[in-house]
Amino acid sequence: MSLKILHIILFIAHQTSQVTSQSVGTGANYVRNFIESFLALPTLGIDIPITEIRTLAKLARDSGLYNEDAYLNISQLVNKYGYDFEEHFVTTQDGYILALHRIPGKGLPVLLVHGILLSSDDFVVAGPRSALAYYLASQGYDVWLANARGNKHSKRHVTLSPNQSEFFNFSWDEIGRYDIPANIDYILNVTGQQKLSYVGYSQGNTAFFVMCSEFPEYNDKITVKIALSPIAFFSRLFSPFVRFLFKINYFETQQAIGQPEFLPNSFLTSPICTQIPAMKFICSNIFNYLVFGFDRAQLNVTNLPVIFNHTPAGCSSKQFIHYKQVLNSGKFRRFDYGREGNMALYGMRFPPNYRLNRVTAPVALTYSFSDWWSSYVDVLKLRQNLPNVVDFHEVTQYNHLSYLYAQNVRPKVYERVLDLIRRYTT
Ligand SMILES: *[C@@H]1O[C@H](CO)[C@@H](O)[C@H](O)[C@H]1NC(C)=O
Ligand SMILES: *[C@@H]1O[C@H](CO)[C@@H](O)[C@H](O)[C@H]1NC(C)=O
Ligand SMILES: *[C@@H]1O[C@H](CO)[C@@H](O)[C@H](O)[C@H]1NC(C)=O
Ligand SMILES: *[C@@H]1O[C@H](CO)[C@@H](O)[C@H](O)[C@H]1NC(C)=O
Repeated sequence: MSLKILHIILFIAHQTSQVTSQSVGTGANYVRNFIESFLALPTLGIDIPITEIRTLAKLARDSGLYNEDAYLNISQLVNKYGYDFEEHFVTTQDGYILALHRIPGKGLPVLLVHGILLSSDDFVVAGPRSALAYYLASQGYDVWLANARGNKHSKRHVTLSPNQSEFFNFSWDEIGRYDIPANIDYILNVTGQQKLSYVGYSQGNTAFFVMCSEFPEYNDKITVKIALSPIAFFSRLFSPFVRFLFKINYFETQQAIGQPEFLPNSFLTSPICTQIPAMKFICSNIFNYLVFGFDRAQLNVTNLPVIFNHTPAGCSSKQFIHYKQVLNSGKFRRFDYGREGNMALYGMRFPPNYRLNRVTAPVALTYSFSDWWSSYVDVLKLRQNLPNVVDFHEVTQYNHLSYLYAQNVRPKVYERVLDLIRRYTT
């Protein structure tokens, strides 16, 4: 099957993803679909060793298959595992109403900021033994979970409706410029603290660098910033599928035809995914396998229905377009509106660079050589541009999503996160 056909299918799926979703059936169906889709990979020219398929199939058989957690929302999940949950709403200067989630604790505040297409859910769906939010909460921290504008929890605005294309006229520049500062001010106000610790995953780091370079006063509100799989420079993106989407101008086309929202939560549960057998492949794998790459050795198969039912959470096509510009230019800079647009907006032909030398808060960078998104070379370039890198740590054999979903993520990554937070708050 050619990539062109794959694109057409994706396009159709996307078009119909707005159709009212219906029940996706049991968790067992999800696991079965997943296994089937893996079986389909070789026929699509994607090479998967047969032994891995067998291992996956066995794992799925042995695990109870049905998983209630797939059908609980974040508040129900957090309560189920014995923690309190609060939902706060924060209005940004430009009118977006963001859901800010909290697992309250007596300790110091820690803000966790999700990646592109994700939400606060992704810091809990790995379950009580693995997820970062539970781990920090169990250590007494006051855990806050951001939701960037446009994701499934933060689809409100004081005047705009998500139906209007203006609503989705933002990239991670605005997330760093408005959303993160609004969240931080809100948290410090509620807790009466001067500073918080910040853990960013993927785009959660991009937004942080935007914030601190545009508003350096926010550096003083951060004890330490821990960057998991950071993205700023992006020239070495590996993910072949994302590169393909960039090449065919997929996101620009979507924007032009008035579909500026990408992969809202209903995507996986849309009828086209559940009722057309051939679509199972696309629906269950596109997000993970094709887009991010799977770390199959550390995959928790029982947990897949939980992940698939909470992810993706939607974003704006413009976020991807902005990343594409960074990829092409090799420069970490503001959105490129073309010569005239740039002159009008920035008073110069090219967009201005973000001034990374203003990011003076202590930053810890965690990367892996097998990451399909955050490549070592790009992270190294980032390190060279940041004035206060306090930790530069390689995690072996981790792909992009492993930082959230891998079975060994707690010993391999989160214990170090906790150590760093402690080191800078005592
Ligand atoms: C979006 O548009 C649909 C149909 O055009 C309408 O039924 C719905 O109420 C709108 N939603 C909002 C939030 O305005
Ligand atoms: C999006 O924002 C840019 C920059 O502010 C503006 O030039 C453009 O007209 C906006 N587009 C829409 C559809 O609102
Ligand atoms: C801080 O809290 C007070 C009282 O709860 C409120 O009046 C004020 O607007 C808040 N400030 C910010 C920046 O949220
Ligand atoms: C794997 O997923 C299952 C089902 O959600 C969960 O009970 C288990 O704790 C997870 N394993 C790890 C190591 O997190």
